[in-house]
Amino acid sequence: MPTLLDIEAEARTCVRCPLSQGRTQVVFGVGNPNADLMFVGEASGREEDLKGEPFVGRAGKLLDQLVAEEMGMSRDTFYVGNVLKCRPPGNRDPKPDEIASCRPYLEQQIELIGPRVIVTLGNFATKLLLDTTDGITKVRGRTYSYGTATLVPTFHPSAALQGGGSDVVAKMRADLVRAKQALVA
Ligand code: URA
Repeated sequence: MPTLLDIEAEARTCVRCPLSQGRTQVVFGVGNPNADLMFVGEASGREEDLKGEPFVGRAGKLLDQLVAEEMGMSRDTFYVGNVLKCRPPGNRDPKPDEIASCRPYLEQQIELIGPRVIVTLGNFATKLLLDTTDGITKVRGRTYSYGTATLVPTFHPSAALQGGGSDVVAKMRADLVRAKQALVA
């Protein structure tokens, strides 16, 4: 059985899809490798690609703030990763073949970390892990199962930064409270 570090080492040299040619760094994921709580985003942006760490830009700062305020938790207690481990050029949407190539890394990450609660951020993570074509606006507001874990879908923090405003933030806060309740249940 490979460890999380084995999977990370494999991802660091991955050439399964053309995004590998444009990346500065693979952004595998960070946090507590035994976390009860895991966030899954979409893909790295410019700052993440340079730093090799997920959610270090504006969206990440908003995520950290909301998680601290609604769940009382900080990065060392949870784990955060993305659907894609490499940055799509110009932050365009992930393509289906890129998601398919990268999917085994995420699935192994989830299996090895074994979170009790998974929060999917935005459409790409939510559709992949819930195996649905329904969008985030339709599916958020309740909990689902992913294996033995509870899955809580919410908006991507970028949606709040890109014009979604206070309504999106309020819904994200409510979803994070839902995640917290699932954690203590
Ligand atoms: N957006 C994401 O989905 N992931 C990151 O790591 C940064 C921004």
